[in-house]
Amino acid sequence: MYTAIAVDGPAGAGKSTAAKRIAKALSYFYIDSGALFRAVTLKAIQRGIDMSDTLGIIHMMKDTVIDFKDEKVYLDGKDVSVEIRSNNVSANSSYPAMISEVRDVVADIQREISKTRNVVADGRDIGTTIFPDAKIKFFMIASVEERAKRRLLELNASGKNYELRDMIEQINKRDRIDSTRVVSPLKKADDAIEIDTDGKTIDDVVSEMLDYIDKRLNK
Ligand code: DC
Repeated sequence: MYTAIAVDGPAGAGKSTAAKRIAKALSYFYIDSGALFRAVTLKAIQRGIDMSDTLGIIHMMKDTVIDFKDEKVYLDGKDVSVEIRSNNVSANSSYPAMISEVRDVVADIQREISKTRNVVADGRDIGTTIFPDAKIKFFMIASVEERAKRRLLELNASGKNYELRDMIEQINKRDRIDSTRVVSPLKKADDAIEIDTDGKTIDDVVSEMLDYIDKRLNK
């Protein structure tokens, strides 16, 4: 049996940075589940499929192959690691994530990977749905202002010029959709450890998480 570590939480709570660093420290495989939903979103946008066209998105999934290789995300054989980070993809990614057929495909990809290696997976439903038996579960939180600021730094570093208030609005909207959807909503697993990242450096957060993992794995 391989070990799974779940890192869940809302957008911008620092999950991916922390999960990536933990995976590296432990030599585990890092699964960025949000990237899988983002790849689906990108393809729907490229095909001109409306986000409300559930049947169109389900149909599109039939000839869609998403894969991770060398920390890159491949959509139908093409590296889309950069394109899936655009603001347009971020703003729309909660919609395909509401569709249970899409979630099933994304769940299968993750469970397949975990059959042959130890994983750290980050997302919204890892501890509740994807790996409910994960040995270690974290739920990362931060205020909406802090999360919006982090997102803004990321986007504006790539030459864009977004406003903080627009980012707060977008994050609030995604939180609402992610937390209230019927299938696998964003929710803290009962046995998850909550990590509040407000005002902490990423180094502090990662070392707090690694300390906890060390205790749990060596118990
Ligand atoms: O973590 P992220 O911002 O890259 O996620 C992109 C979108 O995917 C997010 O709006 C919600 C969705 N998502 C999800 O529903 N379940 C997950 N396990 C991961 C992401």
